Formats: sequence, structure tokens, C-alpha cells
Amino acid sequence: MVIYKAKDYKDMSRKAANIISAQVIMKPSCVLGLATGSSPVGAYKQLIEWYKKGDLDFSEVKTVNLDEYKGLSKENNQSYYYFMYNQLFKHINIKLENTHIPNGIAEEEAAECERYNKTIHCLGGIDLQLLGIGHNGHIGFNEPNQAFEKNTHCVALTESTISANSRLFENAGEVPRFAYTMGIKTIMQAKKILVVVSGGDKAEIIKRAFTGPVTPSVPASILQMHNDVILVGDEDALSEILL
Ligand code: F6R
Repeated sequence: MVIYKAKDYKDMSRKAANIISAQVIMKPSCVLGLATGSSPVGAYKQLIEWYKKGDLDFSEVKTVNLDEYKGLSKENNQSYYYFMYNQLFKHINIKLENTHIPNGIAEEEAAECERYNKTIHCLGGIDLQLLGIGHNGHIGFNEPNQAFEKNTHCVALTESTISANSRLFENAGEVPRFAYTMGIKTIMQAKKILVVVSGGDKAEIIKRAFTGPVTPSVPASILQMHNDVILVGDEDALSEILL
């Protein structure tokens, strides 16, 4: 694993955007695995800025997102599709038909999981997967568990995740209780993984995930087994693992 220490959130975002840009420049038709949440927003802003300057071209890029709330449609302003459209897709020249996110309102849960697995498989897998990490060590919505779930599945969100995500809703009662998420095997099959973390509140879980035992009770700990992980964190988030 390579660790880049950033001064602050802005610096972290710039470093992460540089790595994503390099991927897009080296392979214009690459498959990017994308995440929502607070951690990647700054990197998306930076990518948009570089695109507007003419330095980046997303016309052949394909994307697959990690997850989507079950029960929310694309048009719902709390859905991850809405987030991705507004934070990134509408500002760059990506073709919307090349962007993929689980369908939160699919009628059949199992069929939707199967469809999403196939989509990723048909794209040839993920070249670069961007990840944030939850306070309980979740990646995507793979919550602490007895075993690592391999493929796309529907999960019951934990109270800690519901309460962390409630900051984006009117109240905790509105946060969906279930979500579709890419599985750990699919994430681990990405050729390269880029983790972005900021803030002292993530320091403890970063220590457990990257220096503790590999265990499904800390899903991000599996990343220790991947041979090409880049961790970009600000000083506060890395304070427990770097001097
Ligand atoms: C988002 C996702 C989640 C977040 C994690 C951290 O698509 O899959 O695993 O990456 O909850 O969220 P933030 O970045 O808001 O701290």
C-alpha cells in the first residue's frame, strides 16, 4: 500500500484527483468505480475544473458506482444517482449511458443484484475503484459482518451508518434502512484502489483497518490483501498510523 499524506481536505482532494486523472489519461476508455459521501466531493470538483480547462476527456470513460439506497428513485434528491449526476456527471462530457448505479427502485431485489454484477462483468471489471471508509469500517455498504459478502447484495444498514448519513436528510427517520452495494469480491478485483479519508474522526478506524487483523468485522481491513491500494488522507485521518 502506498500512503500519501495531505495537509487538509483540499490537498487530499487534489492528490486524489491527480490519480484519477492519470488513469483517465492513460486509458481513456477506463472503468472507474465511484463513491458518494463527503470524502470524494472535493476530488470530483477538481476533476470538473480540469475538464473545464480542457485537460481531461471523459467521453469514453465508463463508471460503476458502489451503492444505492433501496427505495429511492434516480430523481429523489437523496439518491446516489442524484448525487453523482449533480456532483460530477452533469459537469463533464461523460455519456450518461456509460454511467452505472444500482437501481434503487428495481422490483426484484435478487434480479437487480444479478443485473448489476453482470454489468460490471461485461465492462471487463474496474480499473480504478475510489473508496471512502465509514466509521465502522464499511466500504460501499458492506457493513461489519461474520463473513465478507462477495457480489452485489442488498444490506440492512447499521444504526451507526444510518446516524452518520442522517446529516444529509431532514431527520434519521428518513434515511432508508436498506441499500444495494457492490460486494467485497468485486471491489477487491479492481485493478487499483484509491481510498480517500479526512478528519480526526476517521483516525481510529483507519488504524484498525490498515494495521489491525483482516476481519469481516472491519470490512475495509480486506484492503490489506490487495496489491495496489493507494491511501490518500489528511494529517488528522492518518494521525494514528503515521508519525
Ligand atoms: C458511498 C459509500 C460509503 C462512504 C462511507 C464514507 O458511496 O459507499 O461507504 O464512502 O460511508 O462516507 P463519507 O465520505 O461521507 O465519510
